[in-house]
Amino acid sequence: MKRVLLFVLPILIIVTTVFTFFGIIQVAFEKERLLDDLKRKTRSVAESMELSVKHALLSGNRKDANYLAERFQARERFQGCVIYDAQGKVIAITPRFESWKEKEKPYLRSLIEHKLTRGEPEQFQELSVYSYILPILNDDGTTLGLVEIIHDTAYVFTRLGALWRGISITLIILVVLILLITFLIQRHIFVTPVQRLTEWFLHFQKGETNEKHPIKEKGVLGRLANEVEQIALSLRVARRSISDEAQVRLQKEDLWTESKLRNFIHAKLGENEFFVVSNREPYMHVIDEEMAKPQCVRPASGVVTALHPILCACGGMWVAHGSGNADKKFVNSKDKLGVPSDDILYILKRVWLNKEEEAGYYFGFANEGLWPLCHITHTRPIFRETDWQMYKKVNQKFADSIIEELPTQSPFIFIQDYHFTLLGKMIKERRPDATIALFWHIPWPNPEIFSICPYQEEILEGMLGCDLIGFHVQNHCNNFLDTANRLLESRVDTEKFSVVRFGKETFVRSFPISVNGYSTQTDRKSEPLRQVKKIKEEFDLQDKIVVVSVDRIDYTKGLIERVLAIDRFIEKYPHYKKKVVFIQLAAPSRTHIKRYHDLISEIDELVEKKNWKYLEGSWKPIIYLKKHFSPEDIYPYYLLADICIVSSLHDGMNLVSKEYVSCKKDLSGALILSQFTGASRELTGAVLINPYSIEEFADKIRYTIEMPLDEKKKRMENMRRQVLEHNIYRWAADIVNELVALKKI
Ligand code: G6P
Repeated sequence: MKRVLLFVLPILIIVTTVFTFFGIIQVAFEKERLLDDLKRKTRSVAESMELSVKHALLSGNRKDANYLAERFQARERFQGCVIYDAQGKVIAITPRFESWKEKEKPYLRSLIEHKLTRGEPEQFQELSVYSYILPILNDDGTTLGLVEIIHDTAYVFTRLGALWRGISITLIILVVLILLITFLIQRHIFVTPVQRLTEWFLHFQKGETNEKHPIKEKGVLGRLANEVEQIALSLRVARRSISDEAQVRLQKEDLWTESKLRNFIHAKLGENEFFVVSNREPYMHVIDEEMAKPQCVRPASGVVTALHPILCACGGMWVAHGSGNADKKFVNSKDKLGVPSDDILYILKRVWLNKEEEAGYYFGFANEGLWPLCHITHTRPIFRETDWQMYKKVNQKFADSIIEELPTQSPFIFIQDYHFTLLGKMIKERRPDATIALFWHIPWPNPEIFSICPYQEEILEGMLGCDLIGFHVQNHCNNFLDTANRLLESRVDTEKFSVVRFGKETFVRSFPISVNGYSTQTDRKSEPLRQVKKIKEEFDLQDKIVVVSVDRIDYTKGLIERVLAIDRFIEKYPHYKKKVVFIQLAAPSRTHIKRYHDLISEIDELVEKKNWKYLEGSWKPIIYLKKHFSPEDIYPYYLLADICIVSSLHDGMNLVSKEYVSCKKDLSGALILSQFTGASRELTGAVLINPYSIEEFADKIRYTIEMPLDEKKKRMENMRRQVLEHNIYRWAADIVNELVALKKI
């Protein structure tokens, strides 16, 4: 529009100037014509009265004279007549001009003497009038008197006003027409062809159309279209060869690496874009209270640990809740930013939630409802109707935010976790061509437990909007199929491992999640060995057996049980006093929920009590570090740990165990792992524990400490092989492979 205005403005200025100029001339002519007309009219009226006035003057009959003057009172325009005698004295006057008598008229005498006529514009009160005076002569040529006709000239100006209005309206209509025609012409000759060329370009370079470009003309636009066609073709060829090369390279490599996954995704998904959705974002910007300036934080989250390397490998877009208090400062006008900031590999799109939405959807329904429902830890789930409504609203908000990003053809959307059970169905309703997978990062309970959820049907229906649902272990898949079978009208196919509802089939598969080469990534960014030395000095760890645990503070992680087991271990095997140190790295989490808030105080109190119980000199058994740790901060603790303990009461997988193993390149260290984690199925070299059995737990700590070095190495080697071979790149590739096979995308 701006461009049209720029183009049309000079034309409008010229048209307006010419119109105004001719308008002024026309009005001046019209004015002159009307005044002339008036003069003629006044003169002829005066002349038509000459005889009657002569008689009245000759007879000296005032009545006749008055009659003649008063007749003007009834005339429609403001008109009047004055009759003077031979001395210039008024003898009759139209009543509405009564005060005209008072007006000084020095010219009368001369008119009478010289028998002259006079026509002049005059002022009467507020009015402009025209006065015409005619001398009345006797037969002998003497002057009997005068007759004066007065006529209001206002109608002349009214007519001129109307003329100006007419000219202005015509000018406005002309301007609008010029604007409209220019707009339509430029749309026809410029905008529409360029739009069609752009559309064609987008589809052609992706190989979605083989048609020739739509510009038929030969001129400048035709030349531009030909150039664009060349570029589109080169792009198409380049894309194709990347994809072919990817196929070839793929067949050569064995172990799954970042580049192998990248090639694989290119080969399998081609130009289908990759979208990941999760509640937790991979990077949060928060204002550091001490330094009062924004800091970029990597949240403690299994989802983030797993998905970040995949996005780094394949690019794409990650849509997540922008929960950092400085997040808004770092996004562009579309709420997006490129990450990692020092080497941009993918796009993070932040979705904003207000306090009520976050409270209802995240703290309420997801974490007080679904989280305890799915974890068997004997924490009662709380389902509030208001939370459910917010949960639905937020799922819809995410669906809208994703849909506006989707390309026109077959996008691939990878939804994460229990925060978005309704998202699959919501997206599918509007984009049936999208391929959607949901990965459930936590356990799935059996149907009896799930059936206590008041919104079971809508949740299952929402999930079945996806094409594929992944769980960590087969047992969770079985539980899900049982749940769908029992609680929903659907057909479960136990051969294909799928659920069919209303003709839509959803496949259910287990994909044990994993980590990337944790050490290779962190090695680049810090100096871990220097850090190890520093930590050892700070906590006086020389010659000590160091046991490390890393957790979010969550009741599912078995932190209390761990402290009780350490207590029992020292109680039972006191010779280990001053020889063993337990370091707990604990990141506060979901602290607005009472259960979590209480847990923090409970752990604080318990650690304090047990440390006090065994305090000897500078030694205390537990070093409890309660704060957020970045992956780089955690790495040296894994390196120095002789043992790592993971004692979750229930855990979908638990990536800390796999991170620890993948850091131990020198095969040192040992893992004590809860039998209730998904990881315990794969990490068979770990020492398994039941965290509820404190006595057994304490004994297993001793058993692990005293395990012969060779055995430790063997176990570690075995676990490392498992993690390296089944790393996160393979996990992502398995999911994509399954989708490609199922959906033939
Ligand atoms: C679990 C969930 C994740 C979540 C993580 C951290 O691993 O499966 O979805 O991101 O906990 O929890 P938070 O509530 O802090 O995101």
